[in-house]
Amino acid sequence: MASLTVRQLDDTLKKLLRLRAARHGRSMEDEVRVILREAAAETDHGAADRFAPSAAPKHKTATPSEDGPRILLIIGGGIAAYKSLDLIRRLQERGARLRCILTPAAQHFVTPLAVGALTGERAFIDLFDPQSEFDVGHIRLARDADLIVVAPATADLLAKMAGGHADDLATAVLLATDQPILIAPAMNPRMWAAKATARNLAQLTADGVRVVGPNAGEMAEPGEAGLGRMAEPLEIAAAAESILRRGAALAGKRIIVTSGPTHEPIDPVRYIANRSSGKQGHAIAAAAAAAGADVVVVSGPVNLPDPPGVDVVKVETARQMFDAVEAALPADAAVFAAAVADWRSESESASKIKKQPERTPTLKLTENPDILSSVAHRTSGRPRLVVGFAAETDDVIANARAKRMKKGCDWIVANDVSAESGVMGGDMNTVHLVTASGVESWPPQAKDQVARRLIECIAATLDGTKR
Ligand code: C5P
Repeated sequence: MASLTVRQLDDTLKKLLRLRAARHGRSMEDEVRVILREAAAETDHGAADRFAPSAAPKHKTATPSEDGPRILLIIGGGIAAYKSLDLIRRLQERGARLRCILTPAAQHFVTPLAVGALTGERAFIDLFDPQSEFDVGHIRLARDADLIVVAPATADLLAKMAGGHADDLATAVLLATDQPILIAPAMNPRMWAAKATARNLAQLTADGVRVVGPNAGEMAEPGEAGLGRMAEPLEIAAAAESILRRGAALAGKRIIVTSGPTHEPIDPVRYIANRSSGKQGHAIAAAAAAAGADVVVVSGPVNLPDPPGVDVVKVETARQMFDAVEAALPADAAVFAAAVADWRSESESASKIKKQPERTPTLKLTENPDILSSVAHRTSGRPRLVVGFAAETDDVIANARAKRMKKGCDWIVANDVSAESGVMGGDMNTVHLVTASGVESWPPQAKDQVARRLIECIAATLDGTKR
């Protein structure tokens, strides 16, 4: 086979590949490897479907998570500073909590007001501002962050960092920190090519500073093009995410979670539903993302905010959920927390069924696909760990054991959903983890805690240190 390099791809394909790689925090070459591996693994089960647009829109929320990583964004003074506002959103989508410092030059391009509105906290601008020093202080700004991102990193800022200057708030914080630093250089191509810049960059990389970009393309100045454009916000966010994930329990693992109820239409206004709130499934998705996993949650209709840092695929019916789960495979683990309707109406009326005197309609039901059972029984592309839920009202453990065998899954998380337990829609849960080696009964705890404990068990198993 003739060899193919990324450089030989056309520009549009290269751009798409760069964005996809950035989204996954991989190099472009690694992304190509993943695509080829997936295509090879899936030729036997609908490879074409994976590249087709999914049935329902997929999006991420820009909600910082309470226990998300803390990122200090230092905005330097270049025209690319306008992209830093978008970068704030992209980082928040991944669950990060942001604080920002604007250099004096940056304030010519973006205002502390705009930055403060997006982060929900005032922007820090001055080393000698008594209020900032009293409130937080530059040493705490340096220490309180899990990662410092400098974007745009101008030629001047790079030079100051390489030389260890500390004559303004940004440089003082950068000198005082022992946390990882990621820089996104942005400057005119000639400044980027200058020997002094190359020397400074070599010094910074030797000091352990990570670099994303710059990219080639047009500059702000008319007629200028070359290497020096700041990396796209999505690329910077992906680079930040991959630095933060290193060492996390589920780093590099992909997890699919189903959550919420399904709605099965009878006619355009009526449907069959159940009382699931989606709280437990959403908490599991959030805990998996916080542990560094790449998470897809396939959710039925719920009244909850999307979990931060998670790909959300919204569906209504069991059949849509089934298709979305298939499209989201392959995965290292899949957790089926959704309360999928077992049946749907055999026929769906195109118009509203009219009430007629003495002619009560009869609803004929037909069975929905069993998503858990189908994924657990796959002969190829089965996630290493398949976890089902069992909502039971009697004989909880005995029924859960039987369900584990019948569904072919590895674990069942069994819970008592009798009316007096208050589990449905409530914030607490009492569960038993049923595995091949026995039953662990966990004390009553918040659904968030159940989620974190389950994710710890999943991480230990995928890591080979449990069961
Ligand atoms: O059979 P039962 O509904 O009690 O099984 C519950 C488990 O099976 C849950 O994990 C649920 O998400 C999953 N399930 C499914 N597809 C169905 C029915 C249940 O994935 N059609």
